[in-house]
Amino acid sequence: MRILGIETSCDETGVAVYDDDQGLLSHELYSQVKLHADYGGVVPELASRDHVRKIVPLINKALADAHTVPGDLDGIAFTQGPGLMGALLVGSSVGRSLAYAWNIPAVGVHHMEGHLLAPMLEANAPAFPFIALLVSGGHSMLVNVQGIGRYEVLGESIDDAAGEAFDKTAKLLGLDYPGGPLLAKLAEQGEPGHYKFPRPMTDRPGLDFSFSGLKTFAANTIRDADNAPQTQANIAYAFEEAVVDTLLIKCRRALKQTGMKRLVIAGGVSANTRLRDKMAALMKQLNGEVFYPSLAFCTDNGAMIAYAGMQRLKAGQHTPLSASAKPRWAL
Ligand code: KG4
Ligand code: ZN
Repeated sequence: MRILGIETSCDETGVAVYDDDQGLLSHELYSQVKLHADYGGVVPELASRDHVRKIVPLINKALADAHTVPGDLDGIAFTQGPGLMGALLVGSSVGRSLAYAWNIPAVGVHHMEGHLLAPMLEANAPAFPFIALLVSGGHSMLVNVQGIGRYEVLGESIDDAAGEAFDKTAKLLGLDYPGGPLLAKLAEQGEPGHYKFPRPMTDRPGLDFSFSGLKTFAANTIRDADNAPQTQANIAYAFEEAVVDTLLIKCRRALKQTGMKRLVIAGGVSANTRLRDKMAALMKQLNGEVFYPSLAFCTDNGAMIAYAGMQRLKAGQHTPLSASAKPRWAL
């Protein structure tokens, strides 16, 4: 089976061709980061227009790189939601139209299912069941994953997502959008022991997260601090440490609660080196195993959508031409 995958939920146009015998044959990614940087965040209308500009050339390139013609495809997977409505409409309209024209099935994929299954693209893929920590710009959740489509959300953020907290705190530190990776880089220069940020919602039972308080704490800390580069780096360090510790505490709790030994971490924030290092140490201590997507597939991409869509098609599912995009959609 060979699938074309299309991702357009936010500010990345991702297209990929995945084959169940040969694996990933091609993937193309166009990031709109530069377009939105001047505004300090994603401007939905600009995002939609840029997806319109890029999607067809990227599909042509992905097919050519995969030495694939439409007749070789068994289906098209597109991100159906959640995300920005206008952006989702681009990928879903193009995906469903091509599927109709080429007389193959189309399948709408949940963006977070794409992230969740991204580690399956790696040689060392996790076996079911596992606990997944999904940490992106729009979502933070812990999921008990029993198999494809068998997901129980154990906890999620009641306010900001982890990536959003990174981006907002980075903005307060005067860093460009998206600030997560830049804050992580600044934190590398930071020294421990200067600031202590709270670990939100770790002192009570449960697996939900809350990150908006960290941003407020960061705002107050920055207001009261000098703006020497070392001070800024120390604040970045303490913020990152608090987010990573909080995620670690909740993962340990979820693993204990379910008795599981396998942990998957995916979504944009899973690219964070300190998070990866600390989670690796935790899983070693617990005699378990941790799995991540490769860095290219932590943030949004078409490959994860192609993979997830293939699993859905194999299970006999497809999405009718009349189905609409779903900007809000529970996993
Ligand atoms: O999964 P993703 O590409 O998009 C959404 O589905 O939201 O995640 C993007 C998020 C952004 O908030 C970005 O700042 C964050 O992931 N991010 C990071 C790192 N790389 C990306 N956060 C912390 N450290 C990183 N190295
Ligand atoms: Zn994403």
